[in-house]
Amino acid sequence: MSDTPVPELTAAEARAELARLAQVLARADAAYHRDDAPEITDAAYDALKARNAAIEARFPALVRADSPSARVGAAPADGFGKIRHAQRMLSLANAFSAQDVADFVAGIRRYLGLPADAPLRFTAEPKIDGLSLSLRYESGALVHAATRGDGETGEDVTANARTVDDIPTRLRGAPDLLEVRGEVYMHHDDFAALNARQAEAAAKTFANPRNAAAGSLRQLDAAITRARPLRFLAYGWGALSDPLADTQMGALERLAALGFAVNPLTRRCDGVDALLAAHAEIEAQRATLGYDIDGMVYKLDDLGLQTRLGMRSTTPRWAIAHKFSAETAWTRLEAIDIQVGRTGALSPVARLTPVTVGGVVVSNATLHNEDYIAGRDSTGAPIREGRDIRVGDWVELYRAGDVIPKIRDVDPARRPADAQPYTFPTTCPDCGSDAVREQGDSVRRCTGGLICPAQAVERLKHFVSRKAFDIDGLGAKQIEAFWRDGWITRPSEIFTLKDRFGPGCPRQVRNREGWGEKSADNLFAAIDARRRIALARVIFALGIRHVGETSAALLASRYGSWDAFRTAMIAAAPQSGEAWDELMSIDGVGPVLAASLVTSFNAELAEIDALAAHLQIEDAERPAADSPVAGKTLVFTGTLERMTRAEAKARAEALGAKVAGSVSAKTDLLIAGPGAGSKAKKAAELGVEVIDEDGWLRLIGA
Ligand code: IVH
Repeated sequence: MSDTPVPELTAAEARAELARLAQVLARADAAYHRDDAPEITDAAYDALKARNAAIEARFPALVRADSPSARVGAAPADGFGKIRHAQRMLSLANAFSAQDVADFVAGIRRYLGLPADAPLRFTAEPKIDGLSLSLRYESGALVHAATRGDGETGEDVTANARTVDDIPTRLRGAPDLLEVRGEVYMHHDDFAALNARQAEAAAKTFANPRNAAAGSLRQLDAAITRARPLRFLAYGWGALSDPLADTQMGALERLAALGFAVNPLTRRCDGVDALLAAHAEIEAQRATLGYDIDGMVYKLDDLGLQTRLGMRSTTPRWAIAHKFSAETAWTRLEAIDIQVGRTGALSPVARLTPVTVGGVVVSNATLHNEDYIAGRDSTGAPIREGRDIRVGDWVELYRAGDVIPKIRDVDPARRPADAQPYTFPTTCPDCGSDAVREQGDSVRRCTGGLICPAQAVERLKHFVSRKAFDIDGLGAKQIEAFWRDGWITRPSEIFTLKDRFGPGCPRQVRNREGWGEKSADNLFAAIDARRRIALARVIFALGIRHVGETSAALLASRYGSWDAFRTAMIAAAPQSGEAWDELMSIDGVGPVLAASLVTSFNAELAEIDALAAHLQIEDAERPAADSPVAGKTLVFTGTLERMTRAEAKARAEALGAKVAGSVSAKTDLLIAGPGAGSKAKKAAELGVEVIDEDGWLRLIGA
């Protein structure tokens, strides 16, 4: 059926069509928002939405309670159109040391032909860790908003930007044309509250405020953006019909007068020493600012001089980002706990007296493995000059960017007199089985397999995780609860949950604490929705050691179907012969992975078959010889926002491309996300074609 409005529908047809559209659009919304994996193009989505609106307009009495138009408020949802920036959105060169800053200032003097003692004035402002946005105002009205994209072309997020309180939609007394540039970001407390709400709704939580801000701004449905606590700070401008001022500081003041939030911590600094002092002062406040910053940005204050200096290929000569060093803090190690993971690995976790590192309260940190605690690396060489870590010690934590805090050092001078060297357990704390360390492995593992409750429950959590079965409403918390009560002890039991604990059963999900009729029904529907599932996801979901997302995709595309994969794994059990050789011939599959795969697969075949009996496993696409990237060599660089690197790589390989780590004369195509640096430069030098993530998605028809 065509998806353009047809006026000659009868009321009955219209009712049926509205029901169909509600279902199709709800599915599209879920794929897009929840899975970050759109199933239809933005254009197709818009067309469906327009058809729905047209039918509703003709048959107002038939508008459904769950009408898709109600989800976006008044405005129709915007797909992400493309917007070409009237003036390129640049990035900044980085400085990491006082010397780099001195070189930056000296370089400016040299370029302008100024003597070494000529005064130069700069602004210094915090570098907000968010995402940049360009707002275009014509005659004082906001006409569009665009993300940076590749700097030349960004995504049209106008409808979303309009929902952000800090972004005025009308300006009084502005130049006729004004492009305001700044950073969209999220405060720590808003971020924490958002994640708590998401977790409660069993929806996706975000790793850090920057991801939350990016995910919130880049929503197809502006109503979702509206509900997210986004903020905007203006720090610059693009195209202009009249200058804002003569100086950077003056321009910021003008932007503030027009109604934009500008960072009140911005100051003028005369020379290198003043810049470094501002850096130190703001760095000291970093943990208490309430939002993430990752450095200071210095800009030459005189706009006339800025113009003379101009740009390099992607960065201005008149500005630089001076990054902060990783943050550290000292605290006390109260205990060492052992966690048993999905593959039986015993992971030591440091329980710490809570301390703030980089604005985040930290009470746990990884201790990696027993060698690490003992003060040596995997080769036996000393780390921390051989100092071991003991319960009661003072330890130094560090956090670089948004990574999980790690222990950097221990202070032997503050060690309690009675502190004892830590003895790593040789039995599993959860099931008591032997925990053994194989030669060449830095990790000690429980040998209990699925009889170990810790391994079994971790396997289940992995099974339902986002990149595996991704069952809505069935996250780690729910798995733990069902596990505790014995309702779900194996993956196959997820698919019999409704028969055992659904309507009509003596004990029912809907009667459990935290559940009701609706959430239970939703859960059963979400489980049903995953009975049909891609082969790669099933292989990954099995949770076999060494078989990650990428190798699962490789295996799926090599074997094509579940039956072929199953037959091959059984045939490869002796770890020799034709099937074994075929497995080993897959580029990316080595002996360790192969052995782990066939051993676990055959050991768990009964449960695997029980699971597969509930599923319709979709065949994988074999590498298409006719795909647009077949046989080509690709390189990914910068940040990808719609998929992980590993996923992008797996997709590319499934389409028959080779993915390389660096740009060379052999590179056919560079896919550059925001933050692309030296690789993009090299590609430009070599004349390699460069596209952004959206271009990539379009190319592969995703
Ligand atoms: S000025 C041509 N000022 O940092 C100068 N950028 O690494 C353009 N950023 O893409 C940027 N705070 O997203 C500038 N106060 C600030 C900033 C800032 C954050 C971001 C911005 C830019 C990136 C460059």
